[in-house]
Amino acid sequence: DIPSLKDVFKDYFPIGAAIEPDETAGLHADLLKKQVNWLVAENVMKPDAIEPSEGNFNWTNADKLVAFAKENGMQLRFHTLVWHNQVGGWFFQDENGNSMVDETDPKKREANKKLLLKRLDNHVRTIVSRYKDDIKSWDVVNEVIEPGDPDGMRASNWYKIAGVDFIETAFRAAREAGGPDIKLYINDYSTDDITKRDRLYELVKSMLDKGVPIDGVGHQTHISVAGPSVFSIIDSMKKFAELGLDNIVTELDMSLYAWNDRSDYGDDIPAYVLRSQADKYRELFDAFKENKDILSGVMFWGITDEHSWLNTFPVTRTDAPLLFDRQLHAKQAFWAIVDPS
Ligand code: XIL
Repeated sequence: DIPSLKDVFKDYFPIGAAIEPDETAGLHADLLKKQVNWLVAENVMKPDAIEPSEGNFNWTNADKLVAFAKENGMQLRFHTLVWHNQVGGWFFQDENGNSMVDETDPKKREANKKLLLKRLDNHVRTIVSRYKDDIKSWDVVNEVIEPGDPDGMRASNWYKIAGVDFIETAFRAAREAGGPDIKLYINDYSTDDITKRDRLYELVKSMLDKGVPIDGVGHQTHISVAGPSVFSIIDSMKKFAELGLDNIVTELDMSLYAWNDRSDYGDDIPAYVLRSQADKYRELFDAFKENKDILSGVMFWGITDEHSWLNTFPVTRTDAPLLFDRQLHAKQAFWAIVDPS
């Protein structure tokens, strides 16, 4: 019998994992129940899963996760009310089925923006009203910063049609529907990158100055053994804490491969790589513990290596980014954070 992460970190923060509905039964369910006290839907609460076409809400899978969390005394996060991926194309078409994205006529642009924000407002209110008692931590918008795009804002359909107002609308609607008890996050990856971090900071600050209800920053933390440094990750959290905001690690995993590397270890992952991974996980969790005052939770993006999005992204190959291997056994990385000495 091995230790349980949720017990090991009980004086620090909740430990979570992303889950798919099929993991609510069987060996994965058993592992999750033993190890974590926090869950998030890996896919089934994304915009296209919940509102595949206008006004047609599909709750079946989302409800299944809510029930599983409740039965097992776990908290749940919501991911995500708004995103540029996994979102129905219907959001961005006008009543005649024409794309609203590249409209140039100013009058029509104004009308399109109004329509999009109305749909967004309805999407957010409907979902938040349904789950506000069961879910306290919400990703309101996901991945809106992109330093390579104009203004440093991701040139998504949302942004092209509505500018930054879609962000404001989403947060305000969530607060109005959910009340003061739910916590609202802006979530993104590579938040340790200085250019990206500073653009995010600027956006959040301008929103807070306008009274937009943002409670915290979600740091996805999809990192690799090669980088970024633990120091840069913590540094970013400190910067947002200065604004009075909470921080959460929302999607932690640690690829064996550097971002630009396209190699594949296949079945022969070198021992030294797994050892380096364990060392980096140890360093990371030591820093998380030290900074528990500005960090309120750590969520892994999955629980076992077999079931990780990194086995198909950015290319199909064998990756091993989590704490449990393909046989569901605890890896060196698990022991490194459970018993760091
Ligand atoms: C990923 C899921 O893990 C995959 O199963 C799906 O095919 C694509 O999305 N950042 C996010 C998550 O915010 O929603 C993504 O999840 C991983 C990157």
